[in-house]
Amino acid sequence: MKRRQEINVFSTSAAPREKVVTITPDGQTALPLQQNAPGDSREALLVENADSCLLIPRTVDVRKLYIEPTTICNFNCTTCIRHSWADDLAHMDWSVFVRIYEGLDRLPQLECVHFGGFGEPFSHPRLLEMLALVKDKGLQAEVITNGSLLSDEVIERLIDMQLDRLFVSLDGPEEEYNQIRQGGDFAAVVKNIRALNRAKEKRASRFPELGIEFVATRDNYQKLPALSELTRQLKARRVIVTNLLPYHREMKDQILYDVEDITDLFSLEEAFNMRRLRFPEMRLRTDRMCKFVRDNAMAINYRGRVAPCYALMHSYHCYVYGREKEIFAYHPGRVDEKALDEIWIEPNYLRFRYNVRNFAFPSCPDCKFLDGCTYACDNEADCWGNSPSCADCLWSRQLVLCP
Ligand SMILES: C[S@@+](CC[C@H](N)C(=O)[O-])C[C@H]1O[C@@H](n2cnc3c(N)ncnc32)[C@H](O)[C@@H]1O
Ligand code: SF4
Ligand code: SF4
Ligand code: SF4
Repeated sequence: MKRRQEINVFSTSAAPREKVVTITPDGQTALPLQQNAPGDSREALLVENADSCLLIPRTVDVRKLYIEPTTICNFNCTTCIRHSWADDLAHMDWSVFVRIYEGLDRLPQLECVHFGGFGEPFSHPRLLEMLALVKDKGLQAEVITNGSLLSDEVIERLIDMQLDRLFVSLDGPEEEYNQIRQGGDFAAVVKNIRALNRAKEKRASRFPELGIEFVATRDNYQKLPALSELTRQLKARRVIVTNLLPYHREMKDQILYDVEDITDLFSLEEAFNMRRLRFPEMRLRTDRMCKFVRDNAMAINYRGRVAPCYALMHSYHCYVYGREKEIFAYHPGRVDEKALDEIWIEPNYLRFRYNVRNFAFPSCPDCKFLDGCTYACDNEADCWGNSPSCADCLWSRQLVLCP
């Protein structure tokens, strides 16, 4: 066989279009871009770096919204971030929700509103109203819940409004669940899920579809096979298994990634085969991808502060591979000051998302300078000059997942 002498450069549909342009001495240039529809002008952010220029389109293309209706909860799970932050425990003010709701019409590509965050959504006294308003706009709505507040009346209302998805957190079968989900009662939550299934059957309703989320720790992961069987019995259509992000010292040795040989757990994908299963990575991989940014998602906390993701919604400390790390919230806007579409195209936020999409961050967990590096103590900045930095984020590694 004849040996090739050089690479054949080929172009795919994802390859950038390239054109040489002239920049005049006064810094002006004409950009031969694809034409718009007649009379339709576009805006873009021009970012000039030392060796390149970027044009980032200012397109209002939010597709998913995460809303945190409250930070109040009737449980006190050992894993919960609420142990490691200084935020108060409060419901979202109705006026904040109304600001968000009024902004929905200005997000033309919005598909889904997810109610979750860090608190129990159903403890907000007006959650059902929020959900119904979102559904009335023709959007998909979903909630993640601890499942304890699903009374018969709530279940009927969820079916009435045809809520799209209801995720219930079940961190293991009974004994493990009750150890982690303090204040919770496994049997009561399972009873509520069965009541939901009965009510759906009675009304021949496919919605709300049930999802189950499981946080895998060193103490509970052996119970995944039992959970698989339970999710089958409970007719869950989706299952999300995530690794733990420890928020306090006592939990830091509970992580499984890169620590335990749990390769046999992957056979579970087989066991969960009837449902859509998302299973986390168990090791650091080269590839990094942020699902929040990839899905064009925006997160809004209980105070109406906008964040790019769950990880940057609050300030807290956590343990990344056993190393204590301070996370500072990054809020590119707040809903009482600006409309959601205006916040989305703020220069700082646009540039941040561009960097995340291209993952232009160094990698702290496997960096040889990690021991002496003060940047890695928090997410304020990194050695490449990013601020905030996603260089240590375990969501981007698919080690930590959420709906
Ligand atoms: C913070 S809760 C909020 C919604 C609701 N209260 C619940 O428990 O489902 C959202 C999800 O995060 C998970 N979670 C809690 N602590 C976690 C941790 N340290 N690492 C990863 N996921 C965690 C919960 O189990 C739950 O599935
Ligand atoms: S139920 Fe959810 S919000 Fe409440 S303590 Fe547990 S993980 Fe945290
Ligand atoms: S910030 Fe520090 S630990 Fe992270 S990659 Fe750069 S030098 Fe390494
Ligand atoms: S990479 Fe991590 S910290 Fe950065 S935006 Fe995504 S989830 Fe948030």
